Amino acid sequence: MEVIIQPTAEAAVKLTARVLGDALRRNPEMVFGLATGATMESVYAELVRMHREEKLDFANAKTFNLDEYIGLPPEDKNSYRYYMDNHLFNHINIKKANTHLPDGMTNDIAGEGARYEAAIKAVGGIDLQLLGIGQDGHIGFNEPLSSLNSRTRDKSLTPLTLEQNGIYFDPPESMPRRAFTMGVGTILDARRIVMLVTGERKAQIIARAVEGPVSSMVTASAIQFHTNAVVILDEAAAGCLQGRDYYNWSFNNEPCWEPYR
Ligand code: F6R
Repeated sequence: MEVIIQPTAEAAVKLTARVLGDALRRNPEMVFGLATGATMESVYAELVRMHREEKLDFANAKTFNLDEYIGLPPEDKNSYRYYMDNHLFNHINIKKANTHLPDGMTNDIAGEGARYEAAIKAVGGIDLQLLGIGQDGHIGFNEPLSSLNSRTRDKSLTPLTLEQNGIYFDPPESMPRRAFTMGVGTILDARRIVMLVTGERKAQIIARAVEGPVSSMVTASAIQFHTNAVVILDEAAAGCLQGRDYYNWSFNNEPCWEPYR
């Protein structure tokens, strides 16, 4: 794993978007795993800008989102389908048929996970998975105690997640209590992982995920098992990390990061 600390959230977002954009330029048929949430809004705004101003071409890209609320139709403004259309897909030249989220309205809740896994497999797997981290340490909606081998399935959400995301719902209690999420094992199958974490409120949990023991209590810690993972942070989110000097040295000296310094 590599850790890159940028001076500001804006710089961390720009670096993240650039890593995604460069990957797409190298391989126009990229399969992206995508995340939603407040942190990612500015990443998608930057990708939209790159599409408009730098001709970043999504014509042959495919996407699979990490998660979707159970019981919200695509037109509900709190569904992740709505979020993705609104923040990204409606503003770039991706084919809608190539954008995938779990079906939050399915009648086959038990079968949806396997269907989604098969769809990912059918395109050859995910090339680059974008991740955020929840305040309870989740990736996707893999709440504490999710198996580190888990696959896509329905999951009940923790009180902390209901508090974190309930602010988007009116009233907050109307937030669904369950969601589909890729499993930790599904996420670890991606060929590359890019995690973006910004803001002081994430400083403690990201330090546990990156430097603490691997534990299903902090499912983000499972990315320590991944052989091609980078965590991009702003100064505020990096506040509790102990190995900062080494991470900074590494970013400033590793040849692969030279174009990004
Ligand atoms: C959403 C997802 C979640 C978020 C996490 C952080 O698709 O995968 O794990 O990345 O909850 O959300 P924000 O950015 O809103 O703090």
